[in-house]
Amino acid sequence: MNTFFIEIYGCQMNTYDSKRLIDSLLFSGFERVFTSSEAEILIFYTCNIREKASQKLFSQIGLLKSKRTKVICVGGCVAQAEKENIFKISKNVNIIFGPQVFHKLPGYIKSVLNNDTKRIIDTSLTQTEKFDCLPKRKNVSFSEFVTIQEGCDNFCTYCVVPYTRGREYSRPAKDIIDETKWLLKNGAKEITLIGQNVNSYHGDAPYININQPRGTWRLERLIQEISSLDGLKRLRYTTSHPKDFTKELMEVHSSNNILAPFAHIPVQSGNDRILRIMNRGHTANKYLDKLKRFKDICPSIQFSSDFIVGFPTETEEEFEDTLKLAEEVKYTLSYSFKYSPRSNTPAAVMKGQISEKEKGIRLKMLQDVLIKDQIYYNNSLIGKTQSVLFEKRGKKENQYIGKNVYLQSVVVESKDNLIGKFKEVKITSAAENSVCGEIIGE
Ligand code: 5AD
Ligand code: SF4
Repeated sequence: MNTFFIEIYGCQMNTYDSKRLIDSLLFSGFERVFTSSEAEILIFYTCNIREKASQKLFSQIGLLKSKRTKVICVGGCVAQAEKENIFKISKNVNIIFGPQVFHKLPGYIKSVLNNDTKRIIDTSLTQTEKFDCLPKRKNVSFSEFVTIQEGCDNFCTYCVVPYTRGREYSRPAKDIIDETKWLLKNGAKEITLIGQNVNSYHGDAPYININQPRGTWRLERLIQEISSLDGLKRLRYTTSHPKDFTKELMEVHSSNNILAPFAHIPVQSGNDRILRIMNRGHTANKYLDKLKRFKDICPSIQFSSDFIVGFPTETEEEFEDTLKLAEEVKYTLSYSFKYSPRSNTPAAVMKGQISEKEKGIRLKMLQDVLIKDQIYYNNSLIGKTQSVLFEKRGKKENQYIGKNVYLQSVVVESKDNLIGKFKEVKITSAAENSVCGEIIGE
C-alpha cells in the first residue's frame, strides 16, 4: 500500500473537500500516515484567500520532503490561482490540481507512481463532476459539513474566490438531502450547510418534472426539508452575503427550532465609499436595516461578521465608520483581517495601498471594540441555560469544550466522556472567547 501524508489549510470549503479527498484516496487503496517522513506521497491542500499562502507552501514542501517521498501534489485554491507557476518555482512538485478535480487525484498519483508521466496539471473548473463522483465517507463525525453551493459571482474587488472556485453552482436538493440522511444515519447530530455564498442557493427541487423550472429551491426551502430529517439535533449554514438575505430566510429562523438562531453576515466595512469600491452591492444603512428587520422577525437571532481593515485608499475617518458600525451592531463573534492584496484581483492594483503598520493599528482598534462587545455578551449569558454540543477535551483533567447555538465555546467539568453529546449547561462565568458552566440534570 502506498502511504500518503496530507497538510490541510483553509476555510470550511477546503475542510469539506479535503475530507472527501482523503476518503477517495483510502477507497483507492492508499494508506494515510500522520508523519510526513513515513509517506511516499505528500499532498498540500491549501487556501490562499488572505495570505501569501504560496510562499508558505514552498517552504513547507522543502521541510516535509524526505528520502521516502515519491510524489508531491499541490491542490486547492493555491493550485488554482498559481497554476504552472508552481512547477516553475518548485521542481519537486509532480501534480497540480484545482479544487474542482480532487476526485481525480488517486488516478493521477497512480500514473506518476507507474512512471506513465512525471508531471500532471488539472485546474479545470467544472463543478458538477466532482459532486457526482463524491466517495462514500470512511468516518462520520457528530458534526459534519455538507456543501450545498460553490463558487461566487459577486466579484468583490479584494477576493480570489470567483477566480479559484469559479461561477456559482448549486447542488440539486435531492443530492444534499440524500447525503445528509446518510450522515445522520451514521452518527451525525449537527449539520452545517456550507457554500461560498450559501444564501444565494438555487438548487433543483428533489423531484423535477418537465413542467417545473430548474433551480427553484432556495435556502429556506432546503432548510425546512433538512430540519425535518430523523436524528438531526442542530442545523447551521454559512457563509452568507447581506444582499441575498431574504425575508423568507429570516422567517425560517423564527419558526424552526432545529436551526440555530445565529447568522454570519459579513459586512467588511462600515463606510459607503469603501463598500462601493469593494463592489459589495450594499451600503452600511442597508446592511443595518436588514439586521434590524431580522431581529424584529426573530428576536433571538445573534450575528457575527467578517471585517477587512486598510482596504486601498481607506482614510482614518472612513475606518471610524467601521468602528461605529461594529459598536452599533454588537456582534457576538467576529473575524477581522488586514487587507491582503491577492494577485489578479482589482484591489491589488488600486492606487493608495495602506501601509502594513497602519493596517496593524486599525486592526487592533477594531478588535478592541469587537472584544469588548463579545465580553459584554458573554457576561449577559451568566445564569442562563444553554444547549451545548461537546467537541473536545480541555487542557485540564475532566474538562470538556463544546459550542452553544451561537458558536461560543462553553467549558465544563465532567467525569463522563462528553465528546459528541448534547448537554444542557448553566453558565456560571464568562471570559473573552469562552464561557464556563455546569451541566444541569446530572
Ligand atoms: N484580504 C483580507 N481579507 C480578505 N477576505 C477575503 N479576501 C481578503 C483579502 N484579500 C476575508 C473577508 C471574507 C473572509 C472569508 O476573508 O472578510 O469575508
Ligand atoms: Fe469573495 Fe465577495 Fe464572493 Fe464572498 S461574496 S466569496 S468575499 S467575492
